[in-house]
Amino acid sequence: MNHPMNTAADVLELAPVVPVVALDDVAHAVPLAEALLRGGIRTIEVTLRTPAGLPSIERIAAEAPDMVTGAGTITEPGQAKRAADAGARYLVTPGTTDRLLDDIDASGVPYLAGAGTVSEAMRLAERGATAMKFFPAEQSGGVPFLKAIAGPLPDLRFCPTGGISPQNAPSYLALPNVGCVGGSWLTPKNLLAAGDWAQIEQLAREAAALR
Ligand code: 3PG
Repeated sequence: MNHPMNTAADVLELAPVVPVVALDDVAHAVPLAEALLRGGIRTIEVTLRTPAGLPSIERIAAEAPDMVTGAGTITEPGQAKRAADAGARYLVTPGTTDRLLDDIDASGVPYLAGAGTVSEAMRLAERGATAMKFFPAEQSGGVPFLKAIAGPLPDLRFCPTGGISPQNAPSYLALPNVGCVGGSWLTPKNLLAAGDWAQIEQLAREAAALR
């Protein structure tokens, strides 16, 4: 656990690509984390949208401590504390409500809250956030949207997620208001099911070289 993880801004510095994964099998968690680490990706966002999510975070935190594990798809009060207790070092939400943000703030864990519009980004900024997730990125205006808001919102930096691919990631990463991107392409279900850790390591290596 060598990486300071004090603020949401720190999350943006971990890797050019944050792999987003919905795990179906807890047994995949540690070999996946180790494959990503070998490929040069030192963070993973394990979503809580499957029952295996929370126990997978616990496993990775215990058995692959060099991996900085975040918990994703935080949508309900209570999840932040459970994720933190499992070992999540940061939290990610697809969108935000005041009730959810109050609950996450109380957990004390850094978070990337989701914003898809200028007003959502401004509301998060009002609460002190300078780093946030832009979701769903491609569907919400993509690179042109981020370029357009850099002028009026110069203090905000984003992790665009949703519809990002190896093909379009470089144009996002070239933007000054983008710190990293999130994507599921490093962890395809077929490779996870097959336990093809070598191929996942290779995808991670290519992603790590994007910045
Ligand atoms: C998700 O919702 O799973 C993440 O935003 C990743 O989206 P993607 O599958 O479009 O990369």
